[in-house]
Amino acid sequence: MAENLVLKGQTLSFADDPFLVGPEAAVEHYSDGAVWMQDGLIRGVGPAMEILDTATGATVVDYGDYLITAGFVDCHAHYPQLPIIASYGEHLLAWLEKYTFPIERRFNDPGHARAAADLFLDECLRNGITTSSVYATVHSSSVDAFFEAATERNLRMACGKVLMDRNAPEELCDTAESGYEQSKALIGKWHQVDRCVYAITPRFAPTSTPAQLEAAGELWKEHPDALVQTHLSENAKEITWVAELFPEAPDYFGVYEHFGLTGPGAIFGHAIHLTEREQAALRQSGSAIAHCPTSNTFIGSGLFDMAGLREGAQPVIVGLATDVAGGSSMSMFDVMRTAYEISQLRGYSLHPAKAWYLASVGSAKAMQLDDRIGNLAPGFEADVTVIDLVSTPLIEQRMAGADTLWDALFAQMILADDRAIRATYAQGRLVHQI
Ligand code: GUN
Ligand code: ZN
Repeated sequence: MAENLVLKGQTLSFADDPFLVGPEAAVEHYSDGAVWMQDGLIRGVGPAMEILDTATGATVVDYGDYLITAGFVDCHAHYPQLPIIASYGEHLLAWLEKYTFPIERRFNDPGHARAAADLFLDECLRNGITTSSVYATVHSSSVDAFFEAATERNLRMACGKVLMDRNAPEELCDTAESGYEQSKALIGKWHQVDRCVYAITPRFAPTSTPAQLEAAGELWKEHPDALVQTHLSENAKEITWVAELFPEAPDYFGVYEHFGLTGPGAIFGHAIHLTEREQAALRQSGSAIAHCPTSNTFIGSGLFDMAGLREGAQPVIVGLATDVAGGSSMSMFDVMRTAYEISQLRGYSLHPAKAWYLASVGSAKAMQLDDRIGNLAPGFEADVTVIDLVSTPLIEQRMAGADTLWDALFAQMILADDRAIRATYAQGRLVHQI
């Protein structure tokens, strides 16, 4: 790669965690700023005059008043489920049976999987998402299809083969042994190849036998730099079912603890209805939560306790996630807006700086990639999105009364959609523009 580019515009980056130090101290904003990207990495971020002085020989792209920020990071999504987005009328367990399992069966066809991966990744880029942690299906070839499509687009993506050996249609089941062997082979083939990251992916406790969860824990011990992703405490019936299936465990999180599936690099989707013990154990373990607000409202799962988990001296690592297609949108603006609305219903107002942090740095931390993606800083991979802050007449009208950066960011997360995403760069390469 030989890109040497300066993007001029407003820049937004994070010097710290706004939940810990407050929005003013956490956010760095240059209204007349620039980002210098060379050979796929960010070389500098700051006032345009300073950057232009140092970036000798760079091509300058002037984005005017557009906001230049790190690409969004989605730390929990199911690419095979995109075709069933907006499916009516069910809650989690019936939704899985009625919509999800039937569509996932079709991924035994590698051509189908590749077309679905292409569509999913193009939707990500149109929405300014440059990294996701993605569930494939039980079929190994669905992981191959996804990583091939991601590599073609130059994207840093995590993905894993779903492990299920019970309580699912037979064609979607592996065994403890075959699931382990296939996952291990996929790690050998893809993990840390180009920009790919492997995620060991037991779907959730109800669809794995103890033997399969044990094998997944063993595999993680053998490959500790891979991620683990699964679901936790999303829905009341699911939680009751887990208690029946694992009577020895103290609670749902305790099941994963028992099999060595908790700790830094483990990402738990949802985590809505945690007991006090689970909250404390999760916090102490260094595990992360993928908060999936548009899914939690759409399939009616419940109201996530953002304040309880993130405010205070030792916040849990939380990232934001679309959870398509339990989630009803590919837009991180929708995800941030719904996170705000759920918090409102719990009596807590999520500040826009905190929402944007969770949608970028928070998710990167969940994926243990926060030293290289999710922020604009020298040495970081140049995954960047460019946002038009007046992308519709309604937003233009609202922005006329927006006196502060916080007003402007808040107006975007409440009102904007994919029309606001004017350009997306992956490792310095332009991969989407309108
Ligand atoms: N729990 C187990 N599998 C799934 C899934 O595919 N989506 C959601 N939202 N929850 C799950
Ligand atoms: Zn999910």
